[in-house]
Amino acid sequence: MILAANFKANKTRQETQAYMAVVESFVSANAIEDTIITFPPFTALEHTSRNVLIGVQNGYPVQNGAFTGEIALEQLEEFGIKTILIGHSERRHILGETQEQIAAKYRFFADQGFAIVYCVGEPLSVRQQGEEVLLSYIDAQFEGIDLSYLDLIIAYEPVWAIGTGLTPTNEQIEAVHSALRRKTTAPLLYGGSVKVNNAGEIMALTNVDGVLVGSAALSASDFCEMIAQAAELKK
Ligand code: 13P
Repeated sequence: MILAANFKANKTRQETQAYMAVVESFVSANAIEDTIITFPPFTALEHTSRNVLIGVQNGYPVQNGAFTGEIALEQLEEFGIKTILIGHSERRHILGETQEQIAAKYRFFADQGFAIVYCVGEPLSVRQQGEEVLLSYIDAQFEGIDLSYLDLIIAYEPVWAIGTGLTPTNEQIEAVHSALRRKTTAPLLYGGSVKVNNAGEIMALTNVDGVLVGSAALSASDFCEMIAQAAELKK
């Protein structure tokens, strides 16, 4: 399983350090073999971990340059960052990233050999139009994306399920994940209101290879509890 925590614009550097200490010791004390990734804010990226991957929530697809407010490859390399989240719905819908910009970012970081967690997912208005419309909306989010890239993880995160406490039914998650499985062999994560009380059940679904968690993963102990649930599934 792959369990990823997306901090978004939460946690200070100090809070991140305390959080990482809890998760890292949990992972080593329990000999966890699953892949654990955290995506802290830019200010908290400077951290070396033996057993938890640190990824960045965004990056600008250049070596360096005149791009005010952005972070480029040079700055990420300094912190040894080789994992990036691309296509998150908050960047698509709140920050206005287009599919073209997302695809350019994807190509750049794939060329640099980054592990990419690539997010797709539909707004509620699309979901309400039925499965065919939903799947073609998601298909369009793969425009310009090389699905044969080897270091790729895909996260299906319905926009309406993010931060709302709403989740699709297990059948709805399996339907989208099986459609994604027909397109790619990349691991498939589900994200959107994953909590301690539903993580185990979601991870047990067919074609679900892990979870991408926002708010519930802000608690280190809750995130550890989800990691424990993943380990339990293998027994
Ligand atoms: P929540 O877990 O808060 O719904 O957020 C999901 C998400 O956006 C992870 O990237």
